[in-house]
Amino acid sequence: MRVLILGASGLLGRELMRVLPGRGHDVVGAGHDRARGQGLHAIDARQPDEVDALLDQVRPSVVVNAIGERRPEFWTPEILEGVNVRTAAHAARGCRRLGCWLVHVSSDYVFDGSDPPYRPDSERRPSNAYGAAKMQAEDQVRAEYPQATVLRLPVLYGPVLHLDESNMTSLVPTVMNAAPAAIDDWAVRYPTLTTDVAHVVADMLGHAHGLSGQVCHWSAAEALTKFAMASLIGRILGMSTNHLEPDQRPSSSRPQNPFLESSLLENLGVAHRTPLESALPGLLHQARRAGMLPGIPVRAAGRSPGRG
Ligand SMILES: NC(=O)c1ccc[n+]([C@@H]2O[C@H](COP(=O)([O-])OP(=O)(O)OC[C@H]3O[C@@H](n4cnc5c(N)ncnc54)[C@H](OP(=O)(O)O)[C@@H]3O)[C@@H](O)[C@H]2O)c1
Repeated sequence: MRVLILGASGLLGRELMRVLPGRGHDVVGAGHDRARGQGLHAIDARQPDEVDALLDQVRPSVVVNAIGERRPEFWTPEILEGVNVRTAAHAARGCRRLGCWLVHVSSDYVFDGSDPPYRPDSERRPSNAYGAAKMQAEDQVRAEYPQATVLRLPVLYGPVLHLDESNMTSLVPTVMNAAPAAIDDWAVRYPTLTTDVAHVVADMLGHAHGLSGQVCHWSAAEALTKFAMASLIGRILGMSTNHLEPDQRPSSSRPQNPFLESSLLENLGVAHRTPLESALPGLLHQARRAGMLPGIPVRAAGRSPGRG
């Protein structure tokens, strides 16, 4: 299939670009600010003309929309509406016009996390502006193009270009810095490897007909708080985490446990769940080799790069 990845320069998009060709697809990618250095089409998907021109040029059979702004420091109403909602609506409208399938990536943050597990038809009740924007994007996508498929995902980790790119690796400096710090030990997350998600998407492409118009969930099964993630990183790096304090105070602006029940895809035989303990050492090793972990010997950061 000819697949167009929107958001191809991002954490998830880069793994889609890497994995899908090996699964037999002809893949074209588009990014925004970082596109040019990576040989991608550069578009601003907030502009409908730019989305339409790209679709007319590429003529894909499928579009995977992995555009999004997930960094809290950029969650202004304008950015959330422009990047997380409007781009999705433009992609959906363009795909409907061309008659190509759309897989739109959404988030577990559409749920408030008070009553897990969450099924695709569970009531959505976002607890912050990001979750609300992702919910609005889902609604616009499905209104514009009922045949589009929504794929909801939990927190992602994978190969990074800098540590802040994933919530998991953004904990590394706090682990490495000996300064006392309180880390959330209340909200439970299910860190899911971008490589696994890319394989899940590749599997979905083989079920385009059956999945058209559906909402799908995919999640790793291992539950960790941020404190547990930091402790794991410390173990892998061979560093003490005695300076870290578990913070168990509840928060009303984040879901506590938004576990995504994934049986729709599991029943199709989809099964890509790399254990965290086998993926993370390799990723930290790659980060170390790229100079992101000064002072940590390569051996301590994991011996072999994981599947990522
Ligand atoms: N990361 C997570 O933990 C997580 C969890 C659940 C769901 N998700 C969802 O998964 C999707 C991918 O997330 P990610 O972590 O890969 O995000 P990311 O690393 O921040 O990448 C975002 C992508 O969107 C592109 N983009 C931003 N503004 C754009 C615009 N105006 N026009 C065209 N492209 C634009 C970026 O291009 P440039 O970089 O070239 O500017 C980049 O390729 C998002 O929908 C996100 O909400 C992420």
